[in-house]
Amino acid sequence: VIDVTSLYQKTNNFTFDPGFTSTASCESKITYIDGDEGVLLYRGYPIDQLAETGKFLETGYLLLYGELPTKAQFDDFSKRIAYHTMVHEQMSQFFTGFRRDAHPMAVMVGVVGALSAFYHDSTDIRDPEQREMASIRMIAKMPTIAAMAYKYSIGQPFIYPQNHLDYSANFLNMCFAVPCEPYKVDPVLSRAMDRIFILHADHEQNASTSTVRLAGSSGANPFACISAGIACLWGPAHGGANEAALTMLQRIGTVDRIPEFIARAKDKNDPFRLMGFGHRVYKNYDPRAKIMQKTCHEVLEAVGHGDDPTLKVALELEHIALNDDYFIEKKLYPNIDFYSGITLRALGFPTEMFTVLFAIARTVGWIAQWKEMIEDPYQRIGRPRQLYTGPTERSYVAMDERG
Ligand code: ACO
Repeated sequence: VIDVTSLYQKTNNFTFDPGFTSTASCESKITYIDGDEGVLLYRGYPIDQLAETGKFLETGYLLLYGELPTKAQFDDFSKRIAYHTMVHEQMSQFFTGFRRDAHPMAVMVGVVGALSAFYHDSTDIRDPEQREMASIRMIAKMPTIAAMAYKYSIGQPFIYPQNHLDYSANFLNMCFAVPCEPYKVDPVLSRAMDRIFILHADHEQNASTSTVRLAGSSGANPFACISAGIACLWGPAHGGANEAALTMLQRIGTVDRIPEFIARAKDKNDPFRLMGFGHRVYKNYDPRAKIMQKTCHEVLEAVGHGDDPTLKVALELEHIALNDDYFIEKKLYPNIDFYSGITLRALGFPTEMFTVLFAIARTVGWIAQWKEMIEDPYQRIGRPRQLYTGPTERSYVAMDERG
């Protein structure tokens, strides 16, 4: 009998790194994170500078092409995106095939994957022009598909894209306008949406981005790869944490109950954790959380909920935790999800849409990462190895002799 395990270990030399906590899967020039210092840079630019004054499509251009656009480049890029916001009319029939109560992320996985079947002229990944066309189509159509998923879930008619509106205003309009009533997107809210999209646009080799790269490494078409990324993002450990943070803040309810929950978070016999606190990479304040907190205030003011009780609980909880030895010692700070749930709820979205919004924003990062990989001359199919721990070789036994 051959000992497969020892044979395998003898003939192979590789690293065993579950969760890839210390393995770089690629080289990349797109996003830099310094978790100890709380730094996040897109192509060298600090996230706070981009989010403070920039536009989402400007950040999208930066992530895709490596440099901030000139005014002419930005206008041309925005125009190309606006031109492709419509989806094929036949696609609306896809939506009616889903149950009304389908989770919008389930709809997104299916419909985005199905784009492969509609755009055959942009699935040959060896052709740079087709890659470019696929990228533009994907970024342009994601908000339309997401808004359709939302409208379908609440039983309202689809609202077509309005290409005179900018990216985020157009998305909010497709979600919240109704055919028979006048509706005008509040510029404070569309600016907030834009900023939220910027904050979520890329985060180097996280689980969904790694999924897109791995799927793309086999030569799969970009629509299918992004659909795989959406599926991965759907998981509660990835895109779903903002919903958990909002639920927790609502459960705490009032400021006087915070100490009870802080005590539970510190109790090792209690599985409860402060949701929206701590991060695998950031051992300092998540730079996105600061901007999200500011955006949260702005949105709540704009919708007339400046004294929102959930925000009050969040601010006090943050204050108490940041002065508590347990959280200081373990370097647990608020992450982006701590304030994003309150903000998205104030914008008018139900919790099931939170991850969908994340997917719209992250699409630009996924595409930038996918393009970088495809354009790398040394790119190979991703093929992780394993540490085999199963049985050693044994002989087949006929079924009637197995006892
Ligand atoms: N509340 C209380 N204690 C915590 C928390 C928390 N939120 N997060 C970590 N800890 C403690 C752990 O119990 C552990 O304590 P120990 O050393 O005594 O065992 C220590 O801090 C280290 O925690 P790990 O889980 O080992 O750290 P890891 O880097 O693996 O986890 C994670 C990071 C998963 C984000 C964790 O902090 C967590 O569960 N946070 C709450 C969920 C959350 O907010 N997720 C969103 C992340 S951001 C995003 O994905 C976009």
